[in-house]
Amino acid sequence: MSKYYLTTPIYYVNAAPHIGHTYTTIAADAIKRLKRMQGFEPVILATGTDEHGQKIERAAAAANKSPQKFTDLISNEFRQQWKALDLQIDRFQRTTDPKHAKVVQDLFDRCLKSGYVYKGSYTGQYCVFDELYVNEAKPGDPCPDCGRPTEIVTEENFYFKLSAFGDRLLKFYEDQPDFIQPDSRRNEVIAFVKQGLKDVSISRTTIKWGIPVANEAPHVFYVWFDALSTYMSAVEGEGLWPADLHLIGKEILRFHAVYWPAFLWAADLPLPKKLFAHGWLLFENDKMSKSKGNMVRATPIKEALGADALRYYLLREVVFGQDGNFSYDALVQRYNSDLANGLGNLSSRTLALIHQNFAGKIPAGPGDAAIAESAKVAADAALNAYERLEFSKALETIWGFIGVLDRFIVERAPWNLAKSGDTAKLADTLYTAAEALRIVTALVYPVIPESAAKIWAQLGFRTPLDAIRVADLAWGKLAEGQEIEPATGVFPRADTKLMIEKMKEGEAAELVRQQTLMGVGPASRPEATHISIDDFIKVDLRVGEVKSASAVKGADKLLHLQVDIGEPQPRSIVAGIALAYQPEALVGRKVVIVANLAPRKLRGLESQGMIVAASLEGGNPVLASFLEDVPIGARLK
Ligand code: MSP
Repeated sequence: MSKYYLTTPIYYVNAAPHIGHTYTTIAADAIKRLKRMQGFEPVILATGTDEHGQKIERAAAAANKSPQKFTDLISNEFRQQWKALDLQIDRFQRTTDPKHAKVVQDLFDRCLKSGYVYKGSYTGQYCVFDELYVNEAKPGDPCPDCGRPTEIVTEENFYFKLSAFGDRLLKFYEDQPDFIQPDSRRNEVIAFVKQGLKDVSISRTTIKWGIPVANEAPHVFYVWFDALSTYMSAVEGEGLWPADLHLIGKEILRFHAVYWPAFLWAADLPLPKKLFAHGWLLFENDKMSKSKGNMVRATPIKEALGADALRYYLLREVVFGQDGNFSYDALVQRYNSDLANGLGNLSSRTLALIHQNFAGKIPAGPGDAAIAESAKVAADAALNAYERLEFSKALETIWGFIGVLDRFIVERAPWNLAKSGDTAKLADTLYTAAEALRIVTALVYPVIPESAAKIWAQLGFRTPLDAIRVADLAWGKLAEGQEIEPATGVFPRADTKLMIEKMKEGEAAELVRQQTLMGVGPASRPEATHISIDDFIKVDLRVGEVKSASAVKGADKLLHLQVDIGEPQPRSIVAGIALAYQPEALVGRKVVIVANLAPRKLRGLESQGMIVAASLEGGNPVLASFLEDVPIGARLK
């Protein structure tokens, strides 16, 4: 069987991984598993990190790190994230890898040789953040994408003659209608190309952090020429190019559908077979953005509900190709209704009944003919939907079949068959349920691999679910007598409120961790953790002597003290030390007080300062004191 090579975008390292990146990468992992099931061999999934350019140089500077150190750190963060989610990544390509630089240079040399690259100079309004010239912008105009001010930039560039490819591209989209998916996106690209294409610059002299163009210092490759080539460098020398699928978000379709084919044609290299642009994931119906602070990260969700819950939710709830919404509430609801109650219930019920009635061994088939037929129809429909990357439709079909099975079990009422001693019908019923569960488990495997593998093992299979192929989905492959394992719940029911709280707490902690990593946020601002001497001097700490002390009525933790700090009148201070000190034992004792704290009223008594004490977790406070004698009113510095 033939190879299948698919890719995700390579992610910019100026942001740590969030659920948007995770969405694409999870979908790619599901496709990989599906392709293997369809028999492609080998199936190779490549991802990586996009590490050059001004934005990243700036992010590194903000984090007080060299670009290399910073990109190492964040690139690794992406790698770890995919590992933690158990995604089957085969190649992780960084643009800072020397192997990649060679591929970029080679692509450039080929385009130069074929006459599609020339040197020119350009002056324009440039958005540093998006690394894009804003063609229509006048000086001072904001960037239409991000709203930040554009800057005037003049520089010598290498240009790629994109303008020469308009007609060829249009003909290609027509001849290969499958190249851009979904269809609606293809129409957008066609409309864009029909407006006419301008040449694009593929090098910069204003940026230092990039791959140098050989013998052309100070030119470095421009970010898209560099980035797109990653798809080739990830599998350089392996005979896997062209890619069978580039999976991307809709906002970068233009670069993939227009630039990339033109670059490859100019270089006389084969084109990828297909682009699929999925939609945007919104957070509670709002665009996710760092500035709005409404980003979501995958790790806390995985830790609370498991990676499969997130995978299932993203691929079931959002129509792949369209924008969709993420909400914690909907996530937990889906989990409970479809996974815990739906699949989880079917599996634990079926396995428990086999344990009870057939000593944990699969009873004799062949099973119910109508259910066998429904299984075939459901499997065909689900596989067809998967093939078109219509995940939500595929899952809806599978869950429709789970509903059929639930009704079948209720109608047959195996508990009654057991009572009435109708063993043949009981065996037929439970064989049907188990065989259908086997097929369902295989069908859901691309989307929820971890849980599917658990059910698979509980059904008594020793071979990995990874090895399953489409042909194995046919009815009747479950062998009579196969010993099943004890049924343990794969999807424990979640308490919605507690689960959401847990995920939100985890999210807050993960945000701080990522911010610290990126060198941004409160934890990494030096002024937040360190105070200057000027700040310290503002605190007026004085030695005082306790003149009198008495309990405060109705407050068993408080004492009311009169403390002499060398002023005409002693200070009235209310302190929370009553559990640790008897009032009379304090009289005459030297203490430290904060003398310039704004006065406040406690239990109707004015407190004109605060007594300094060590505060011990779970224990009583201990007053600060001196071993040597110190005069009243002395200042602590
Ligand atoms: N480095 C470029 C891509 C170069 S590919 C040769 C880039 N990087 S990125 O870090 O900004 O990642 C963009 C991709 O991340 C999107 O295309 C999409 O796959 C994913 N997503 C990031 N945020 C997203 C959402 N909020 N929703 C869905 N996917 C999003 O662009």
